[in-house]
Amino acid sequence: MIISPSVLSANFLHLEKDIEMINQSQADWFHVDIMDGVFVPNISFGMPVMKALQMAATKPLDVHLMLANPDPYISEFTKLGASYITVHYEACTHLHRTIQAIKQAGAKAGVALNPHTPVHLLSDIIAELDLVLLMSVNPGFGGQKFIENTYDKCVELKQLIRHKQSNALIEIDGGVTLANAPLLQNAGADALVAGNTVFSSPSPRETIQQLKNLTVMKKA
Ligand code: DX5
Ligand code: ZN
Repeated sequence: MIISPSVLSANFLHLEKDIEMINQSQADWFHVDIMDGVFVPNISFGMPVMKALQMAATKPLDVHLMLANPDPYISEFTKLGASYITVHYEACTHLHRTIQAIKQAGAKAGVALNPHTPVHLLSDIIAELDLVLLMSVNPGFGGQKFIENTYDKCVELKQLIRHKQSNALIEIDGGVTLANAPLLQNAGADALVAGNTVFSSPSPRETIQQLKNLTVMKKA
């Protein structure tokens, strides 16, 4: 299981300290939520914070673009060190073109689905994708409650990936906890984003370790 702590829940008064905590932890990626106040009802942060992450983070940057019009920013985020760029299905009229642009820029390409968007809509693009992000809350804010329907979507997505012989990873984003993490792994998830669960913990590093160990125990 890949663990991707969400920087959105970090303490921006000491961002370097929180980045360092993730560097030292068993986390695999940094999840970077970029919000434009148009696609989602919130504005997070942009290029200057991404630049700081590029300088301080020692693990891949997993960039989740919650932008109404992501295309003009793909090249810039790649230059700022994004390993994965994930765009929303709901925001891209020419999704195939956007996916090609992400790959041409040199990043891995992901597509995110909002809770109401069915998995089968990815049928004709899944073979091209490196990652599918299932939103398990409505995007825009950290610390929300997990939507239970996500388990079924995850199982269905795994079937679609197998059927189309895709290599896409399944990432779950929103409301992930120590309690639902093993169930998500059973449903076929490859990567878990964790914001509130990690950063509101008295010991974030231990919580990251527990997320890893829980899933390992479930596998055995
Ligand atoms: C929500 C973001 C998530 C968020 C997850 O729009 O995409 O990545 O940071 O935070 P938690 O884990 O607290 O739900
Ligand atoms: Zn996210």
